[in-house]
Amino acid sequence: MATPVIETQNVYRIYEGAAGYTPALRGISLTVPRGEFLAIMGPSGSGKSTLMNILGCLDRPTTGTYRLQGIDVSDLSDDDLAHVRSTQLGFVFQSFNLLPRASVMRNVILPLLYSPVDPRERELRAIKALRAVDLPEEYWDHGSNELSGGQVQRVAIARALVADPPLLLADEPTGNLDTATGEMVMRTFLRLKARDKTVVLITHDAEVAAWADRTVHIRDGRLLTAEEERAFVERTARGARAAAGASDKDAASAVVPAGPTTPAPIAGPREASAL
Ligand SMILES: Nc1ncnc2c1ncn2[C@@H]1O[C@H](COP(=O)(O)OP(=O)(O)OP(=O)(O)O)[C@@H](O)[C@H]1O
Ligand SMILES: [Mg+2]
Repeated sequence: MATPVIETQNVYRIYEGAAGYTPALRGISLTVPRGEFLAIMGPSGSGKSTLMNILGCLDRPTTGTYRLQGIDVSDLSDDDLAHVRSTQLGFVFQSFNLLPRASVMRNVILPLLYSPVDPRERELRAIKALRAVDLPEEYWDHGSNELSGGQVQRVAIARALVADPPLLLADEPTGNLDTATGEMVMRTFLRLKARDKTVVLITHDAEVAAWADRTVHIRDGRLLTAEEERAFVERTARGARAAAGASDKDAASAVVPAGPTTPAPIAGPREASAL
């Protein structure tokens, strides 16, 4: 089998702070083959950004291993990690982080400014990246503040692509966009996947995740399979229904005091997540 682009084994990330230890990731094992478009979904605080930071070599696991393109990056020096980031990874964020007054072309070239690529070659690469995201040429000399949200995000994707990395990491890339514009961005990812790029996308939105080949769910720092996630949601819904039933009874008994009431045992979301 070909070497996976991402392979983590039993990754833990434990933050150490004034308040003590926070285990943000608790045993993440994840394999992403080349050319896969993966969505990661999870509630606030579940560990998504922590995982993304590790996958993006911006942070290291406390324990466990991370192989990126077959290379164990867990123990690399900061310099080596910076090199891995600039050659292997492209980042796309929710807030677009473009220079507003610089032209589209200039924004896309930016990541190459400190690389040993000569200026003509930089421009050729930027053109290739802008073509890959299908941004019409008439916009290339516009300021990024003169574009629509979807166009801006495509420029951001082109910038992430300009060094031709095999892996794109996107954190809520459609979070600020309306549905139609978000779809345009998702189609861009599908096109990149067709060109054998690997895309890992964080989203809160199930409709966005539906564009991906596969969705994994993260809760309390652990990955859940689709089945485990379904079982979790079902348990939580049962708990909510039981709670609603109990409070209806409470309300009724407040109006018509009738005999002793026994509180129903409720498995709320907190307890359910511990199961
Ligand atoms: N630098 C830090 N120091 C201590 N704890 C942290 C730090 N960063 C994150 N955490 C904690 O780790 C857990 C996971 O945080 P993380 O930012 O990964 O969540 P998230 O899933 O990205 O949430 P959101 O959807 O709100 O962005 C949370 O409990 C958070 O409080
Ligand atoms: Mg986050």
